[in-house]
Amino acid sequence: MPKSSALQLSRRGVLAGSAATVAATAVPDAGAQAAAAAKPATSEVSFKVNGRTRKMRLDTRTTLLDALRDHLQLTGTKKGCDHGQCGACTVLVNGERINSCLSLAVMHEGDAVTTIEGLGTPDDLHPLQAAFVKHDGYQCGYCTPGQICSAVGVLDEIGKGIPSHVTDNLEAAPQTSNLEVRERMSGNICRCGAYSNIAEAIAEFAGAKGSRA
Ligand code: FES
Ligand code: FES
Repeated sequence: MPKSSALQLSRRGVLAGSAATVAATAVPDAGAQAAAAAKPATSEVSFKVNGRTRKMRLDTRTTLLDALRDHLQLTGTKKGCDHGQCGACTVLVNGERINSCLSLAVMHEGDAVTTIEGLGTPDDLHPLQAAFVKHDGYQCGYCTPGQICSAVGVLDEIGKGIPSHVTDNLEAAPQTSNLEVRERMSGNICRCGAYSNIAEAIAEFAGAKGSRA
């Protein structure tokens, strides 16, 4: 069967040739893909953090939280769940509170970001920070920066001039105002359970702000 044998050899030859062709064309593509995978896409971004313009070239997948903590060393903002469930990463962007773990840094071109470091300093505490100290609004303190940034946002949401029913001490205030503040703060989890003291601190700050308005 020389004819059949020749035919088989011929088929092997064709298959071997095809495989070599596929390999020759596939290897460069695989190499290019591997190179692309090893070098993630980056982008320039510029935004203000606590009043200071910061320019960075970042992996486009970098969250605002990681940009603040890992690239700008602003570690006051905490990473709790990294999934938008605890509020530890809360910062203010253009005056509104957001979970920085859920937001890509490159989305904030031109924005004004305020972190806990921008609210006050150890020598010159923001009134809300001072209220948290006064009322022991924390135990381990891990959730505290997010609680304070969130509370600043909450009181702004309620109104520039804080409604009188919120300016009173929560103990004496109508139940609805207590509930409203607690509801608006419900995205900020405190694993130590310091909620009562946190609410008292916010109430005191709201009262002081209201009396100034
Ligand atoms: Fe962002 Fe928990 S770390 S919500
Ligand atoms: Fe510890 Fe809130 S003070 S988690």
